[in-house]
Amino acid sequence: MSNLVVRQIDFDVDQAKFIWNPDNPSFSVLMNQITFFVVGFEKYMCRVMRDAEAHITDAAVMEEARAFRMQEAIHAQKHMRHARALIAQYPALQGVLDKVLASYDDVYSTHPLEYHLAYAGGLEAIFTPFFKMILDHRVALFEEGEAQVASLFVWHFCEEIEHRSSAYDVYNHVVGSHWYRIRNTGAFQKHTRDLFDMIKNEFELVVKDVPKNAYSDNPFARIPIRAQLRSAVGVLASQFPWHDSVNQPLPDYYGEWLGHWESGADVSQVVGKVTLGAQ
Ligand SMILES: [Fe+2]
Ligand SMILES: [Fe+2]
Repeated sequence: MSNLVVRQIDFDVDQAKFIWNPDNPSFSVLMNQITFFVVGFEKYMCRVMRDAEAHITDAAVMEEARAFRMQEAIHAQKHMRHARALIAQYPALQGVLDKVLASYDDVYSTHPLEYHLAYAGGLEAIFTPFFKMILDHRVALFEEGEAQVASLFVWHFCEEIEHRSSAYDVYNHVVGSHWYRIRNTGAFQKHTRDLFDMIKNEFELVVKDVPKNAYSDNPFARIPIRAQLRSAVGVLASQFPWHDSVNQPLPDYYGEWLGHWESGADVSQVVGKVTLGAQ
């Protein structure tokens, strides 16, 4: 049985500022890039998982694929709300979102299901070491940020940790070839990198009222080099054929966040500064 929990949380990000963490402008920009990226990526994941269902012959894999798709659909919804808030302030950002969506439509229509599942499994595997680094250093990265925005990202990253093996399992069940996935790793990594670069370039053209160096500072400057290296090694190792997507080092905060959720705490403001409504 799948242990994924489908959660609907009301993050009120309608008034979110572009630099939602004035203490760390470049990290604010990076997370905004993630929002614009994720809307297209998660919609693509949902289409791919729906298509994969016709090829899944195992009940447990099917249950996991469906729960995974539901989590990702909600991620797309919540980040869309965040993107809309930024577009309301900078209408030209609609063009950025349209480009991301068009790019994923293009990938979807020009590649076979095997490729899509390799993309899903490969990229989702990268998330665990990358988001572990962010969650391990959440105090430095999120504490001075707007609570609803910061908490949206923290929730999303925790759910990425939770479903870290889902896409990988679906790939292994439906396609199964490690070498096919590895052969295509460069292509899907380039696609995501190009999108991240495009989003940032467009931000720079459209959003000019940002602190100096918001687009050039290292968003992770406050994270110790050792932790950055550990994450980079984890990202690399996540693509190896023998990668074990379940038994990965997890951030302690994942368990802590689950504790908040299970206790009924308001996880829409679990990190950051609760100032949004007052502004
Ligand atoms: Fe997600
Ligand atoms: Fe995911």
